[in-house]
Amino acid sequence: ASVDKGGHKHFMSKEIAEQPSVLTNALGYYIKNGKIELPDPGLDFTKIERLTMVACGTAYYACLVAKYWFEQVARLPVEIDVASEFRYREPPITKGTAALFVSQSGETADTLAALRYCEGKADKIISVVNVPESSIARESDLPLPILAGTEIGVASTKAFTCQLTVLAILAIKAAQDRGHMDAKQVAEALEQVKSVPGIMNHALALGERTKAVSRNLAEARDILFLGRGPMYALAHEGALKLKEISYIHAEAYASGELKHGPIALVDEHVPVIVMAPRDALFDKTISNMQEVMARGGKVLLITDEQGAKEAGPGVWDTILMPEVDPFVAPIVYAIPAQLLAYHTAVSKGTDVDQPRNLAKSVTVE
Ligand code: G6P
Repeated sequence: ASVDKGGHKHFMSKEIAEQPSVLTNALGYYIKNGKIELPDPGLDFTKIERLTMVACGTAYYACLVAKYWFEQVARLPVEIDVASEFRYREPPITKGTAALFVSQSGETADTLAALRYCEGKADKIISVVNVPESSIARESDLPLPILAGTEIGVASTKAFTCQLTVLAILAIKAAQDRGHMDAKQVAEALEQVKSVPGIMNHALALGERTKAVSRNLAEARDILFLGRGPMYALAHEGALKLKEISYIHAEAYASGELKHGPIALVDEHVPVIVMAPRDALFDKTISNMQEVMARGGKVLLITDEQGAKEAGPGVWDTILMPEVDPFVAPIVYAIPAQLLAYHTAVSKGTDVDQPRNLAKSVTVE
């Protein structure tokens, strides 16, 4: 099928806008009559003792979010690594290990090599891919399509949220198989996941707000992103998006690591973006935010209305998100991360869809 910009200035903005609809497709594919249905019914998490997840770039940050999910809801030990490290560090793959590879293209050389390393060692090779006929999909026991449709923008957007959606469903399935969620809890969790496209539409309505904020971000030389738990992963994804397309130096830190170094960078010239949905760690993140403000740092707080109230005054700016259940918050909070990067890049006048030095798919080492 031919792909055009559908009235958008860039593929990236079209792909950001498409997320509620492609996510709906993925949800329809995996959730039928309120139950999880995988293409291969043979995946049984009672036989799996350990999950190893490997990927590159944005797909790696999807793994980082999923690690929190699998550990918290399914009590399954998870190891994650970037493929270029994993493939050479000779990790022991013990019996009972499932290896899971996440890749939009399904052709990333390091990820494919990591998969081949696991062949014959892991009990099961699972992949989460956008291109069903790709090498990674073909070489896995259980390829799970994310159904995002063709992604053209080099900076991955809709593939990321579709990867997260499939991984969230897989974590719920693992929790169910391993006896950590009963039928009612599974149904409730699936309802949360199914609510994401609707909530995302509200988050997408923040386009104009993020555009205004981005005009100020465009002047920065360095930007810090902070978050805890799965929001730490989102902080990484936000920093990566911004670096890729606006060429502003951005770094992510776990909020709690702030005082172990990055706080030394904080002054009135460094915007600090704090990703803080009202989850179990909200208060801790806010107290880290206040440490930044006490040192003259300019904080851009991303939270909901109640969160902004609880955080109190003194922030530089706020992006008010819709309320969202903490379990699925990482999927919804991808939207402001993407929009901030997009509008900052547009305001700097960079080539959003074809950023310098980057390739959509890295098929050589
Ligand atoms: C490149 C792309 C990124 C992508 C990464 C992994 O760096 O520019 O957008 O996240 O490769 O690609 P994959 O196709 O394996 O997800």
